Amino acid sequence: MLSTIELSSAAIRHNYNLFCRLAGKELVAPVLKSNAYGHGLAEVYQVLASESPAWICVNYVAEGAKLRGFGYSGHILVVGPAVAREIPAASALDLDLVLGNQAVLAAWLQAGAPGRIHIKFDTGMSRQGFALSEAAVVAQLLRPHSAKIVGLCTHFANVEDVTDHGYATKQLEIFNRAAQVFADAGFQLMLHAASSASALIMATSHFDLVRVGISLYGSWPSPLTRVSYLQLQNQVLDLKPVLSWRTEVTTVKPVAAGQFIGYGCTFRAIRDMRVAVLPVGYYEGYPRIAGEAASYVLIRGARCPIVGRICMNMMMVDTTHLPAVEVGDQVTLIGADGNDEVSAQDLAGWARTIHYELLTRLHSDIPRQLV
Ligand SMILES: Cc1ncc(COP(=O)(O)O)c(C=O)c1O
Repeated sequence: MLSTIELSSAAIRHNYNLFCRLAGKELVAPVLKSNAYGHGLAEVYQVLASESPAWICVNYVAEGAKLRGFGYSGHILVVGPAVAREIPAASALDLDLVLGNQAVLAAWLQAGAPGRIHIKFDTGMSRQGFALSEAAVVAQLLRPHSAKIVGLCTHFANVEDVTDHGYATKQLEIFNRAAQVFADAGFQLMLHAASSASALIMATSHFDLVRVGISLYGSWPSPLTRVSYLQLQNQVLDLKPVLSWRTEVTTVKPVAAGQFIGYGCTFRAIRDMRVAVLPVGYYEGYPRIAGEAASYVLIRGARCPIVGRICMNMMMVDTTHLPAVEVGDQVTLIGADGNDEVSAQDLAGWARTIHYELLTRLHSDIPRQLV
């Protein structure tokens, strides 16, 4: 592919250590699912390995297998849905599974209760997890296997979406009640609930582990989380973006006033222009819809608006104001160039999505380079 994803090792370490200071080092579980949020599992792990995190979260057993292949011997928590057919592989790889429904719990018991598990409670998201009303029955079923039960967990529904965290507080109350049921049944378990936003703004959610995803990569979960943090702490937190995405100019061409640019002839030059063609499109992960917004890339530190529709593997940008631009010039799709910057949130906003989706869709074949 003709673009490169640069990853700042210093930024990964910096963000990881911010959370270590905030929650305590032994509590921080970096979330490396979905190819480390599109950054590159192998590369991000390579940096984190020297920090020796006690826990790493992934979504799939297969991702856990890759981490074991890289030599990681700490705890791996598979936060995605556990399915019966993967139980033997998870236990062979010494991965911790999260069980959150009767069917998979029955399958685990039937398989002879192999490996280590966490029990998830659905406290308000209606996605994964047992209801509070099931807690006593589940605790009873698990009593003979207590040595295999590591923790109880839940997930918040809307911490990122609000500055009033009443709903999350109610979720916490339900989670605490479920934990009490297990404590009353004689279990001594670790508890975990927080992801980036709740780790940042709800100290009561930290318990024994915080599962930090998006902010490990240097992004705020949302602008509202940033506002909440400011209100709470009265200071800014210096998260450093890890990823830059760069490509190069492959063609520069004059386009005369009146000529069309791109598929559908949606853009017509109203003046003579100089247009640069870039070798990146929606296949590589640049969202097609971003071309409909006031979107731009950076060349020689200046904004160059996207003109016409984004193609499968190419896009065109206006460089009329930069007569020196030539083939081979570096182009920044995400990241800083000179005094300007395109953030993952900027590009996600142009594409009417969130940076989580944008980042995880960056094509895994784009070379990743640690800098
Ligand atoms: C169960 C679970 N925990 C933690 C996270 C990390 O969330 P964030 O990226 O907001 O930190 C996720 C992300 O989807 C998740 O599914």
